[in-house]
Amino acid sequence: MNKSLKIFIWSLSAALGGFLFGFDTAVISGAEQTLQALWNSNAFEHGLTVSIALIGTVIGALFGGLPADKYGRRNSLFLVAMLYLVSAIGSALVSDWFLFLIFRFIGGVGVGISSVVAPMYISEIAPPSRRGRLVALFQFNIVLGILVSYLSNYALEGIGENAWRWMLGVEAFPAILFMASLFFIPESPRWLILKRGKIEEARAILSTTDEDEANTVVTAILNSHRESDSTTSFTDLFKPIYKTPVRLAVLFALFNQLSGINAIIYYAPRVFEMAGLGKESALLSSAGIGLVNLISTLVGLTLIDKFGRKYLMQIGSFGLIGSLAMVSYYFFIGLGGIQVPVFLFVYIAFFAMSQGAVIWVFISEIFPNDIRAYGQALGSFTHWIAAAIISFIFPFIAETFGGGLTFAFFTGMMILQLLFVWKMMPETKGTSLEKIEDDVIISA
Ligand code: GLC
Repeated sequence: MNKSLKIFIWSLSAALGGFLFGFDTAVISGAEQTLQALWNSNAFEHGLTVSIALIGTVIGALFGGLPADKYGRRNSLFLVAMLYLVSAIGSALVSDWFLFLIFRFIGGVGVGISSVVAPMYISEIAPPSRRGRLVALFQFNIVLGILVSYLSNYALEGIGENAWRWMLGVEAFPAILFMASLFFIPESPRWLILKRGKIEEARAILSTTDEDEANTVVTAILNSHRESDSTTSFTDLFKPIYKTPVRLAVLFALFNQLSGINAIIYYAPRVFEMAGLGKESALLSSAGIGLVNLISTLVGLTLIDKFGRKYLMQIGSFGLIGSLAMVSYYFFIGLGGIQVPVFLFVYIAFFAMSQGAVIWVFISEIFPNDIRAYGQALGSFTHWIAAAIISFIFPFIAETFGGGLTFAFFTGMMILQLLFVWKMMPETKGTSLEKIEDDVIISA
């Protein structure tokens, strides 16, 4: 098999974890109303039905570095696939609300761990020149998973009172596919060398993809060993030498969510209705959001290794500021026409080609080999805790302060993001992980 194809297939296998991430987080939107009626839940209970998976993501992200560091990237991906499978089958079969919460929580933990392990795995096996594109396959799969869950919910809606069971249960199929594909991928050579000392095994994996470079890469990985032994822990992240990547990952993940992306993804129909659209067109526009997200992610994916991460983020920040400001403006003047939906589409297009395509790539690149698993966990944790808080308070904030002020806040955050990108963000395209490590740490 051709070398590039092999790397592509390995990356795609890990990226399937992203498909399940997208599917699992969005699927609940099609089932929640039936579930509320079924269990006769009050507002608090219903809030938990919807958000319990998000709570799981926070926990999964926080602890995801541990299995990745101790047992390897590949074994951790197996764990993720298992969690998805158990969650899908469990939540489809449950007879009471409490068990439902437990199984949805398990799925959320899977999403959280996948956001730590999958991008990092791809980043560690990919050749520098194509690393951006290959890691961005993860985001492409997330967005595809979101869209497929909308479509599958739509298709299953009419099948009767057990429709919600099928909506949640069909996730078992991609989970099995994901698990099966993991049998055919190798472990990360960087983990093998630094955490297990298996230099020859790692060299063999590296030379299947780049024979000439394998020896140079092995030497660079060996030289990147900064810690005195191979065991590291989460708290090592707070050593002064790691302060630059820590700052970059936390701020990047925060700005990702402060763009308001998940307020739109999780509440699209509600936002469209706030802008004056009828229920039917609001639902249709939400599916449109999914489609524009997918297409623009492809654009980002194609450009990320040519133009670089920083350039996409600069263009994207301008686009996000402009489109959010227009959404806020039209909410303020309250026309109720098609302006808000139109600018939300523009917003999604800019988000997908910049923040969406770049986040998982950038976080997986900026931490040194020794500490990457915990660094990636910190970035993912920041992302999920911000996602949970923003999507929890968004309906309340939007109702109390109105769309105008809410979107003005997101606009302000994107102005700060632009300053962050401009002043602090290093360019990482086309550079080996070990070279980035030197640049980022030495610049600290
Ligand atoms: C990115 C965000 C995630 C969001 C998705 C939407 O992956 O990190 O929170 O749901 O994009 O496209």
